[in-house]
Amino acid sequence: MGNSGNAFIEMTGITKRFPGVVALDDVSLSVSRGEVVALVGENGAGKSTLMKMLSGLYHPDEGEIRVDGRPVRITDPKCAQALGISTIFQEPSLAPHLNAVQNVYLGRETQKGLIGRAVKRLDEKAMLEETQKLYAKFFPTVEDVLIPVGQLGALKNRVIEIVKALSIKCSLVIMDEPTAALAEHERQVLFDFVHMLKSQGIAVIYITHHLRELFGLVDRIVVMRDGKNVAEVGPGDTDEGDLVARMVGRTITNFIVKEDVSVGGEILRVEHLTRKGVIDDVNLHVNRGEIVGIAGLAGAGRTETVRAIVGADKASGTVSVDGKKCRIQTPGDAIAHGIGMLPENRKLQGALVEQDVKDNITLANLKEVLAGNFVIRKNKEVKTAKEYVQRLGVKTPTIYQKVKSLSGGNQQKVILAKWLFTKPKVLIFDEPTQGIDVGAKHEIYSLIADFVKEGGGILLVSSELPELMGLADRIYVMHQGRIVHEFTREQATEENITLYASGGHES
Ligand SMILES: Nc1ncnc2c1ncn2[C@@H]1O[C@H](COP(=O)(O)OP(=O)(O)OP(=O)(O)O)[C@@H](O)[C@H]1O
Ligand SMILES: [Mg+2]
Repeated sequence: MGNSGNAFIEMTGITKRFPGVVALDDVSLSVSRGEVVALVGENGAGKSTLMKMLSGLYHPDEGEIRVDGRPVRITDPKCAQALGISTIFQEPSLAPHLNAVQNVYLGRETQKGLIGRAVKRLDEKAMLEETQKLYAKFFPTVEDVLIPVGQLGALKNRVIEIVKALSIKCSLVIMDEPTAALAEHERQVLFDFVHMLKSQGIAVIYITHHLRELFGLVDRIVVMRDGKNVAEVGPGDTDEGDLVARMVGRTITNFIVKEDVSVGGEILRVEHLTRKGVIDDVNLHVNRGEIVGIAGLAGAGRTETVRAIVGADKASGTVSVDGKKCRIQTPGDAIAHGIGMLPENRKLQGALVEQDVKDNITLANLKEVLAGNFVIRKNKEVKTAKEYVQRLGVKTPTIYQKVKSLSGGNQQKVILAKWLFTKPKVLIFDEPTQGIDVGAKHEIYSLIADFVKEGGGILLVSSELPELMGLADRIYVMHQGRIVHEFTREQATEENITLYASGGHES
């Protein structure tokens, strides 16, 4: 038979080459019904590429895929769906002008009857009800499901992607970094779904850089490195440190580095920032050499606050840089005043994915690479791009690679390089290490540390409390659009931040 046991999916000897890279080299992976398999590895290890073969987006150069023991060719996403494979993609894949219901049912507004005879239209009421039911598990209010998803934040988009994948009748759900951008509460809801799928005999492949999530969630952990299988372990036979060592092939210690930097004068001051119904009278400041965190649950107004500061959304209130009030109406104005922002939703706002790595890094600060007459100093540009690629460990064959062909985490690194190169006075980061592997996280923390050592200031929004507490000198906590508390580094603990973030101190 050759089919080991009752695997639902069996991939063997999968090899995939792209120009300049062997993304997958003789990789195997199997998953049975009712089994949850984790797939872990550094940025660029090949996880998403392997999964895209099951989703019908890529085709293996070599190797075989079996479904229930039968060899198959998964030619396109429709074919994957017909085989019972549903995917939560790592990159945002929703149509921004459509609402949640339309996105969830996109491409399958009509559905074959059970035995494939009658083709019946799904009725709108049923679609709406189903979407609302799933969505309400994450958010108590469901009016969001009828507005274009482009008007919702990254978190809600993420949830809609999840709802979409879960609403498809399937035998395997692939989750490629499903918890990126989710806060604790939504993560918990997602974990409940994973347990539920398992109990219904559905297979799950789960990709994450949050290794801690895996324990108590998965049955088996498959580790990849540089496009190869390197290990397969049970969650009971390993721990985070062991997994990291297998992923990167070396041990990493000292995860978060925050050196003591002497804090200087004020660079950024925000007063009475208000956007009706979203943020309410937000006051904060950042000093030279300081890393200032903003904590809060999803929907607390963290992203809305930083977007308002850089003029991405209209708001009332004032923003001052170096003691002078600035007129900031667009992100371009913010850059001109020395405020840069790395946004949370990289595909829509951060990267020019059709352009190459070099251009993405140097574009935000062309004057650094411009010679007198607007002639780009090629050498300088190339040198800069290479330097950042090397420092951040961006996995790319050359600096001339289009950003869209990089792995998710490597795209994030390129955007980060771009903002560091802009050398602003204040850098605002919204979830900077979302989707970044452990080794590179460490690299990013040390770049942040260098930046403040040179007198810059950082405003950091992060849902990762250990990251926030490890890096920040002070932490503002937001709840329902307001800053409800300010902690010094010494006072901050996970418990008391969470208490304020959930409005608990009021009761
Ligand atoms: N369309 C493509 N063209 C060229 N190279 C590609 C393409 N898709 C993926 N690659 C390359 O294949 C390798 C594996 O990428 P993949 O996206 O699978 O990594 P990953 O493990 O999912 O990483 P991450 O954790 O960052 O998401 C990378 O070197 C990537 O640049
Ligand atoms: Mg990936």
